[in-house]
Amino acid sequence: MDRLISIFDLTGRDIEELLDSATSLKKERANGLKKRNDLEGKVLALIFEKPSTRTRISFEVAMFELGGEVTSLNWNELQLGRGERIKETAKVMSAYIDAVMIRAYAHGTIEDFARYASIPVINGLSDREHPCQTLADLMTIKEYRNGFEGIKVAWIGDGNNVCNSLIGGCALVGIERFSVACPRGYEPDVQVLKRAESLGCKVHVTDDIEAAVTDADVIYTDVWVSMGAETERARRVRVFRPYQVNERVVEMAKEDVIVMHCMPVHVGEEITEAVLNREEDVILTQAENRLHAQKALLMRMLK
Ligand code: CP
Ligand code: NVA
Repeated sequence: MDRLISIFDLTGRDIEELLDSATSLKKERANGLKKRNDLEGKVLALIFEKPSTRTRISFEVAMFELGGEVTSLNWNELQLGRGERIKETAKVMSAYIDAVMIRAYAHGTIEDFARYASIPVINGLSDREHPCQTLADLMTIKEYRNGFEGIKVAWIGDGNNVCNSLIGGCALVGIERFSVACPRGYEPDVQVLKRAESLGCKVHVTDDIEAAVTDADVIYTDVWVSMGAETERARRVRVFRPYQVNERVVEMAKEDVIVMHCMPVHVGEEITEAVLNREEDVILTQAENRLHAQKALLMRMLK
């Protein structure tokens, strides 16, 4: 496996294997075995064009606990920020390090980097996808729902990067029922919907929250204003206001529904304090699982 830029770079089987490996790493760590030496001598670079808490820390700790090293770089500290091309940067970095994770505004930036790099490239979030988040989310769904069979997932809000990867990931592991409730103009990527459908997951896109959430086992939401969309803030807050995940929305779903969020949360916007408090365990487990899932990914890519 030499790239994870889109969730569709993985097969359903790859995902199942990564989740099994992540689950055993999680158990091992809970039993006190934190430090391994699988990736001794390996170096991962992290490049950030926009902010991060979870992605940065979980990748750093993952490499540390696997015995490798990490170098975290902000875009503007690199010559990239002064106009050096991705082409030369990718070639130069390939000579020094073993893999790179990039968080960029444009998805094409990461694809460009991969075109010229001779090392594995991981998408740490672009405007189109967030595949590492999806691995942790599927791991979390599996833990709380005992697998994927027969479940229905409902996405409420912006059909954004996290939504695109989640749809793809769900389709790849065989989830057949996925609904998206979003305002018109904020639907998930059409190509993602087509790919999901070809895998047997017909995504129901609607502006009717009740239709989306009825019979749902999982409700997922994310911020209304993603990084890079700040200038649209006023309009987005107005358009998304009816799509808040509050207690009324949760009551429309199955009684034992779980509510998920990739974090950071904007309390009082996409999710209320009451729902966040009720679902804190699930949401914090998603964040924790980033560590375990990424360890499994790095072991598979770098060992
Ligand atoms: N969920 C997620 O990717 O969080 P960060 O932006 O903090 O990395
Ligand atoms: N959709 C959000 C996710 C942050 C992890 C964003 O792109 O800002």
